[in-house]
Amino acid sequence: MTALTFVYFALIFTISPLVGNAISGCNGPCNDLNDCSGQLICINGKCNDDPDVGTHICKSGTSPQPPQPSGPCKPAGTLTCGKKKRTTYTTYSCSPPITASTPAVLTLNDFRKGGDGGAESSCDNKFHENWELIVALSTGWFDNSSRCFKKIRIRASNGRSVEAKVVDECDSMHGCDKEHSYQRPCDNNIVDGSSAVWNALGLNKDLGRVNINWSMV
Ligand SMILES: *[C@@H]1O[C@H](CO)[C@@H](O)[C@H](O)[C@H]1NC(C)=O
Ligand SMILES: *[C@@H]1O[C@H](CO)[C@@H](O)[C@H](O)[C@H]1NC(C)=O
Repeated sequence: MTALTFVYFALIFTISPLVGNAISGCNGPCNDLNDCSGQLICINGKCNDDPDVGTHICKSGTSPQPPQPSGPCKPAGTLTCGKKKRTTYTTYSCSPPITASTPAVLTLNDFRKGGDGGAESSCDNKFHENWELIVALSTGWFDNSSRCFKKIRIRASNGRSVEAKVVDECDSMHGCDKEHSYQRPCDNNIVDGSSAVWNALGLNKDLGRVNINWSMV
C-alpha cells in the first residue's frame, strides 16, 4: 500500500465512520458499488466518487463541481438506502432562493414510461416525450406543485439558453423506492431536464451533471 493509498483509506474511514464493510477504496477493483467503501461507487471496474453525491474523495477531476447548497435552506433529515450496502443521503424540503440567476445543477431525466424518471410526472399524472422542453425541479423549487406548467429559462455557461416547462418534481425528500426508479433523493439544487433541454443548450448528455443558472420566465 502506497502512502497515498493509505491517506485515501484514512480519509474514507474518517468521512464514513458508519460504513463498516469497506472493501475497495479509490480506484480499487469492483464489480458493483457493494465492493466499494464509503460513498464510492463502481465506475468501469474501479471505485470512484459518486457524481450524484458530489464527493471529491478520489479527486477524479471528471465530474463538475456542483454548487454547494447554501443560504437559509437547511437539511430536513436523512434517508438510508440499500439493503446490503447502506448509504445515507441528506434530504431537503427546501431549496436555495430563486433569483434572476439561480445556480443549479442540470441533470438528465427520461420522462417516458419505463424511463428513469419513475412514475408519471406529478403535475399532470402523465408520462412525457423526451423531445419536449420539460424539466423536473427539486422539491423546494417545485414548491408543492405551485410551479407546475410554469416556464423557466435555463442558461448554460456556453452562452446558450432555453425555455422549458416544469412538469415534475425531483424529489429531495424521498427515493430508493419503485416510485423513484430506485434512485437516491435529489439534491436540493437540481433542474432535471429532458434530452431536448440538453440538446437545445448544446450540452453533452454524457456529462450527466452540468452547472447552469435558471430563472422564472
Ligand atoms: C400542498 O398543496 C395541497 C393542495 O393544495 C395542500 O393540501 C397542502 O397542505 C400543501 N402542502 C404544503 C406543505 O404546503
Ligand atoms: C451563473 O451566473 C453567475 C453570475 O450571475 C456567473 O458567475 C456564473 O458563471 C453563471 N454560471 C453558469 C453556469 O453560467
